[in-house]
Amino acid sequence: MPQETTTWQERITSNESVWNRAHDIHPVLNPLYDESVRRILGRAAVADAPRVLDVGCGLGGWIFKILEFRPDATCVGIDMEASFIERARAEAEQRGLSDRVDLRVGDAVRDLPDERFDLIVCAGLPEAFGGLEPMLEKLRPLLSPQGRMIIGQGIWEREPDEECLRVLDASREDHGSLEETIDSIAHAGWAPVYGHKSTEQEWDDFVWACVDGLTRWALDGDGAGAGAETPRVLLAVSEYRHAWLNGYRGTLGYMTFVVRPIPRTWQPLVASYELARRTWTASSP
Ligand SMILES: C[S@@+](CC[C@H](N)C(=O)[O-])C[C@H]1O[C@@H](n2cnc3c(N)ncnc32)[C@H](O)[C@@H]1O
Repeated sequence: MPQETTTWQERITSNESVWNRAHDIHPVLNPLYDESVRRILGRAAVADAPRVLDVGCGLGGWIFKILEFRPDATCVGIDMEASFIERARAEAEQRGLSDRVDLRVGDAVRDLPDERFDLIVCAGLPEAFGGLEPMLEKLRPLLSPQGRMIIGQGIWEREPDEECLRVLDASREDHGSLEETIDSIAHAGWAPVYGHKSTEQEWDDFVWACVDGLTRWALDGDGAGAGAETPRVLLAVSEYRHAWLNGYRGTLGYMTFVVRPIPRTWQPLVASYELARRTWTASSP
């Protein structure tokens, strides 16, 4: 008999399970309203007929907004989760967009295309690269010199307590404060040019979409119905909701930045200015 490596709670509340069910209610799998996505895209406007890469594209939430916002854009989307890519392809087909989007199952680190893009979106997966700075380093060669990158990144809005770290299965070092995060971006040789901090209401709407999606599965079923699984799914939903309300609500924040690469030749000079500013700020009374 195959060895079971995950508990039933983990199966039900795995990211794949939750996001597949939240997507119909909340297409972008991060705490962002459509109007925020549009505003961020407006601030990341690039060349005519832009080539766009979305790394960790999920179910295509950002891609479909980009294709709508920029009718001249074409996109490549990569995600490791085959079920997400399958659904995103079906949606592209249904919307008549298949010729403008190339959706691939692949790993964000190993399967990146050998091509340059005008805009790269990488929202909500710095841990796949081992952190924000390695992510910026890895994606730099894929961005054209005048290009823009949109990155989505968790931040600590206040110091996390033990319970928060426990429910998130995280450590303090996994995220920085807003200031620490911006310093990391600058340290990696990038110029942040826009930032959107998800509001409490955007966070609530996103988490409630996840809770609602799972509850629909429990009570209404996915065609076949949750059946005998219903009580288990409801219990898992309750734990999921509890972890949010009593664990990380108001502590884990989410920032979306638009960043531009600083040419390599200027990086040492800019880094020394940044260091001087930080030292000066730290030593100011
Ligand atoms: C928080 S979701 C965000 C999805 C999408 N960027 C959005 O904003 O709607 C993170 C996504 O990254 C994908 N992912 C995580 N690690 C990955 C990796 N190593 N390679 C490719 N995709 C990965 C997950 O499958 C998931 O779809």
